[in-house]
Amino acid sequence: MRIFVSPDAAAAGAAAADLVAAVAARRPRLVLGVATGSSPQPLYRALHEHVVRSLDLSGATAFALDEYVGIDPRHPQSYHAVIDRDARQPLGLDPARVHVPHGATADRHTTAAAYDRAIAAAGGVDLQILGIGSNGHIGFNEPGSAYSSRTRVVDLAPQTIADNSRFFDSADDVPTQAVTQGVGTILDAREIVLVAAGAAKADAVAAAVRGPIGPAVPASFLRQHPRVTLFLDEAAAALL
Ligand code: GLP
Repeated sequence: MRIFVSPDAAAAGAAAADLVAAVAARRPRLVLGVATGSSPQPLYRALHEHVVRSLDLSGATAFALDEYVGIDPRHPQSYHAVIDRDARQPLGLDPARVHVPHGATADRHTTAAAYDRAIAAAGGVDLQILGIGSNGHIGFNEPGSAYSSRTRVVDLAPQTIADNSRFFDSADDVPTQAVTQGVGTILDAREIVLVAAGAAKADAVAAAVRGPIGPAVPASFLRQHPRVTLFLDEAAAALL
């Protein structure tokens, strides 16, 4: 695991975007794993600048990590909407090649399994962008998630509902379940870039990097992957 520490979130995002852009420049048919949340936003903004200058991502395919259960894809906080706003538009991705799990459909358990097959059919993810939850989750793989877990329906941890309530009118409006790529699905990516910023992530980052590897901190499983790079700001790296 490589770790780069930058003075602030914008600089960490720019450094991560440089890595993504370098990989993308070598692969016109890049399969990119995209994440939601505030963590990757500086990365997407910096990658947008690469796109403005010369990087062409129009041939890339993207797979999102997760989606809330029971939310209308047109809801502004659905991950369909967030990925469209934060990643697809600024990166110039082809909407026909941007995939987000379906959380609103009655057959979401079936479509979760189909999602893994769709990733495999696209050739697998070349580069996965990740954030980290304050409780050490990746995607929505909450503490207790197995190393071998695949895309599935999960219950959200109370901590996650509290953390994400800032995006909704109240905590009562936050969905309580999600469809998420599994830990095993995420670790199938050929390369992984994790971005984290702010003091609220310091404990989770330290537990992932220095603590025991196991389901109590799903991000700790990243240490079992051969090509993972963490881009942190100083506050998120404070406890390393
Ligand atoms: C969210 C997402 C994760 C994200 C994490 C942190 O709920 N499911 O993919 O990494 O929680 O979010 P943020 O970056 O906004 O702190």
